[in-house]
Amino acid sequence: MTSIKTSARYFSTYCKLLDLTPETVLGYKSILDVGAGLSEFTGRSLELGVNAVAIDLRYSDIDALTKQYLSQPLPDSVDEMIRQFRGRIDGCSTLAEMQGIIRKDREQRVRKFLNYYLNYQDSFKQGNCFDLPHDKDSFDLSLSVELIFNRRYFTQEQAVHSLKEMLRVAREVRVQSYVPVSFDGSFPIEGVSYNLREGNYGTLLILQRD
Ligand SMILES: C[S@@+](CC[C@H](N)C(=O)[O-])C[C@H]1O[C@@H](n2cnc3c(N)ncnc32)[C@H](O)[C@@H]1O
Repeated sequence: MTSIKTSARYFSTYCKLLDLTPETVLGYKSILDVGAGLSEFTGRSLELGVNAVAIDLRYSDIDALTKQYLSQPLPDSVDEMIRQFRGRIDGCSTLAEMQGIIRKDREQRVRKFLNYYLNYQDSFKQGNCFDLPHDKDSFDLSLSVELIFNRRYFTQEQAVHSLKEMLRVAREVRVQSYVPVSFDGSFPIEGVSYNLREGNYGTLLILQRD
């Protein structure tokens, strides 16, 4: 399995990947983001008035997490930079220019995250997706972007374990990945409705407890 790096997706990106809008986010009273990394989703949701909580295995050392994110190596070819960061580096022509833009972009994402983290520290909790530190039905929605549904990170068995945990703490679950875990045959969790959507933004799995 690939080692799991962190990332820092914006609220708007989460909405696209999870088929949500700011309005539909507001329709949930409480949301848990599992494997939240340095994303601004929880901070923005809190600002909107949703009782949002972010869980990440590595929130025990935020300083190390941000340092690791900022020092993640960048591709050393223009083609690969364009493949990975298209849209963010439009107008750049040299590799150095592209890398400079992405480094600055990462710093901006970290600043945004830290701002939310400092304002709402109680909402960012260290925790493991296999053993969520919450009671049954603590949230309306539990979601995860590029963690538990990514087959480079988790086996099918691990994904199911974590999905069951997410379904324990919330009646609705949304998980997205560009490289999704595949469930051969029938879906291995009983008592849930199962909706798989494949689109431009990877694969989205939506589960609802019956
Ligand atoms: C690829 S990042 C995605 C971050 C965020 N969801 C985003 O899209 O910006 C995966 C995150 O999952 C966290 N993680 C890895 N294993 C975990 C586990 N067992 N339980 C909870 N979080 C975990 C990592 O620390 C990392 O921050």
